[in-house]
Amino acid sequence: ADMPLRITVIGTGYLGAVHAAGMAELGHEVLGVDVDERKVDTLNQGRAPFFEPGLEPLLERHVGSGRLRFTTSFAEAGEFGDVHFLCVGTPQQPGGRGADLRYVDAAIDALAPHLHRPALIAGKSTVPVGTAERLTARLAAAAPAMEEVHLAWNPEFLREGFAVEDTLRPDRLVLGVTSRADAAVLEQVYAKVLHAGTPLVVTDMPTAELVKVAANSFLATKISFINAMAEVCEAAGADVVQLSEALSYDERIGGKFLRAGLGFGGGCLPKDIRAFTTRAAELGAHEALNFLREVDEVNMRRRSRVVDLVRELLGGSVLGAKVAVLGAAFKPNTDDVRDSPALNVAATLHLAGSQVVVHDPQANANAAAKFPTLSYADTAAEAVAGADVVVLATEWEQFTSMDPFELEQQVAYRRIVDARNALEPQRWADAGWAYRGMGRPVPTATIPPSIERLVSVTSSTAVRQLPAGT
Ligand code: UDX
Repeated sequence: ADMPLRITVIGTGYLGAVHAAGMAELGHEVLGVDVDERKVDTLNQGRAPFFEPGLEPLLERHVGSGRLRFTTSFAEAGEFGDVHFLCVGTPQQPGGRGADLRYVDAAIDALAPHLHRPALIAGKSTVPVGTAERLTARLAAAAPAMEEVHLAWNPEFLREGFAVEDTLRPDRLVLGVTSRADAAVLEQVYAKVLHAGTPLVVTDMPTAELVKVAANSFLATKISFINAMAEVCEAAGADVVQLSEALSYDERIGGKFLRAGLGFGGGCLPKDIRAFTTRAAELGAHEALNFLREVDEVNMRRRSRVVDLVRELLGGSVLGAKVAVLGAAFKPNTDDVRDSPALNVAATLHLAGSQVVVHDPQANANAAAKFPTLSYADTAAEAVAGADVVVLATEWEQFTSMDPFELEQQVAYRRIVDARNALEPQRWADAGWAYRGMGRPVPTATIPPSIERLVSVTSSTAVRQLPAGT
């Protein structure tokens, strides 16, 4: 049953590169395909073109053994593969809310003319429901061996930062197929994963397409639910972190994805809920997903809230203030800055006239490519040097483990916005910091802060009176 197959993976981004390495790890012979020559070169050296924990060792091992290689040639891919996984991006349409399917279409168009023998194309990209049906027609028009070339949909649920783990040990496998034989091919691909007891759902293609966007919509809704509670907590003087903990003990609710803070970002959740709403409207089911617009709006309001808290700590204006933004990636353990809440906050503060210095342990380069007008520091110490206020925007471990007494040696003023609720408020207040969390009461210091560094945060005039470093 564990017969190795010849597999191609089309698109070597965060999803495809990990999938290709994962397929090799499962024992298959794998050819990754990308139009980006530099990426292909990097991968062929066994190196990861982006930061993803655990990916590079896999690439090294399997590129080294010859089981995994990469090419820019679709002709080679068509010749090589028994199964072709489609892993290209489906970003948000420029200037729209729907999914931009140009890369999916281009991949099918590039591959189809080279399919001269039986093959299964398995879509992994997140697409609007109905895309697989449309691609089937597109393939039929272009593939010489069409009766022998089938399409299936096999959505991917991996999380960045845990992508290798999620690929090799997924929560479930979902196969959208048009025949039992096609399901059998994919079951052969995943034989090792299935032997490990991974739940399997075999269904039709539209359902498989929907599972992915439904899952991401649910996750986004859960985050926005707790962030909506944070807004109510702010109005009522309650603490959303304790509220969330109390909710989490109800197993029907569960504690995962119930962390209030700066909200969700990344290449998936934000664009997926927008594309889903758009697709539902096209299908005449717009009412069903109206709530996802609210989910999006609650999420975006958290970014404004952080900017407001910075302004409040600065006594009313951010103009000219030095703001250290710790974090640029949309979450820790990735260098991905797509729709990053951290960078959105940094850019907004910059536009409002503050001097923003950003530091991220992995994402500085990607951030600088997107927001070249912001300043970037190589170290956290450099970013916070002389800062009027610090914003913890991405909860990297090196930020959440910061010590208030160490940090105070570096900043001009002890003011911090903990946009991810990642710090212990009382500890920072007791160390003399003006602390603001998300949906949490302002902690009051039980120990009086040292006099000379005390800064009034309620007066709008007292803010920048003290020289830096006093
Ligand atoms: C997500 C899905 O989890 C994954 O299954 C799917 O395949 C792709 O989209 P990913 O985008 O890698 O994965 O990130 P995820 O870990 O889900 O986090 C998404 C965002 O939500 C991050 O910005 C994170 O900071 C935020 N988040 C997460 C919260 O604000 N609160 C939480 O409680 C959890």
